[in-house]
Amino acid sequence: MVVRCGVIGLGYWGPNLVRNISASSATQLVGICDQDAAKCEALRRQYAAPVVTYDPHDLFNSPMIDALFIATPVATHYSLALSALRSGKHVFVEKPLTSDVAQAEHLVSEAERLGLTLMVDHVFVYNPAVQKIRELISTNMLGQILYYDSVRVNLGLFQHDVSVIWDLIVHDLSIVDYIIDERPTAVLTNARAHVIGQPENIAYMTCIFASQMIAHFHVNWLAPVKVRRTLVGGSRRMIVYDDLEPDEKIKVYDRGVDITQAEPDQIGLQFGYRLGDMFAPMLRRTEALKTAVEHFAECVRTGTSPITDGQCGLRTVRLLEAASRSAQNGGSAVAVGA
Ligand SMILES: NC(=O)c1ccc[n+]([C@@H]2O[C@H](COP(=O)([O-])OP(=O)(O)OC[C@H]3O[C@@H](n4cnc5c(N)ncnc54)[C@H](O)[C@@H]3O)[C@@H](O)[C@H]2O)c1
Repeated sequence: MVVRCGVIGLGYWGPNLVRNISASSATQLVGICDQDAAKCEALRRQYAAPVVTYDPHDLFNSPMIDALFIATPVATHYSLALSALRSGKHVFVEKPLTSDVAQAEHLVSEAERLGLTLMVDHVFVYNPAVQKIRELISTNMLGQILYYDSVRVNLGLFQHDVSVIWDLIVHDLSIVDYIIDERPTAVLTNARAHVIGQPENIAYMTCIFASQMIAHFHVNWLAPVKVRRTLVGGSRRMIVYDDLEPDEKIKVYDRGVDITQAEPDQIGLQFGYRLGDMFAPMLRRTEALKTAVEHFAECVRTGTSPITDGQCGLRTVRLLEAASRSAQNGGSAVAVGA
């Protein structure tokens, strides 16, 4: 069964969904929608979608559509996704799932009640580099995971409706959720808005775990250069993941500190720095969004739960909400419930 799809929101990101849905044999592009008629027209010329509309109700009510993709501003995700589910459509929502926890909980329960697929586009989970990191961790190549430390900065795009926390940290939270089984128990965030009337454009967030693991994310829309660099430190090996590298995005270093008991004639512990080889694993070259769209179609067809299902979206929104609360309270620790 080919999944017949509609896309709502044809701004910056929506056209990428339209392109991938059109290109895949698992999906068929049936409808496109944007409240801005010019954006509909631009895509109408490029793709042969039978339904082109500025009113999402035309897609909710169309019997030709099985699933809807929502790529509108975050504040609109909840109401559009809820209407889509209540019209009997499977739903793929852009990240973050909603603007608050109560909305995310409601979408998850409605999708369950109606027996429909709800997936959030945590697109990095479908990125070959991130999938390789998960594989390296699950095969114990890195040993015990000690830290995740990322920098995700560039100049713009300033979002008007969400802060940099909800726009960029959501990517790191989704990666950590995917590669590590443990969940944070508390978060601390410092953030600043440097442009009057705009949301925070720089933030530093730390996630605390019950184990020795710690995660830190630095995001910024006001940086002179683009950096997308993550370190994952393990007790046996460490990874440097640079998403801007064209070829060797992941480098695995056999480096660390070995601590041994001192010789009988010496006192205390001995530190040895291990400076072993580095290797860059081969990665698939598939576009992450293609994998995400095809995974969604497969879940709709088979009724299986997506990797980034509603619960996964809810976990991330819970952390984003806690991060915003911490930022409002001057960076104090905010506990995160289940
Ligand atoms: N997965 C990713 O890596 C990624 C990257 C960028 C953006 N996004 C997400 O995609 C979503 C959209 O972001 P964007 O940058 O494309 O925003 P955008 O402002 O460029 O586009 C949003 C579009 O939605 C339309 N729209 C708004 N409300 C509507 C409604 N009720 N009905 C129909 N159309 C409506 C607007 O006219 C606009 O064209 C956001 O949730 C964002 O977080 C995800």
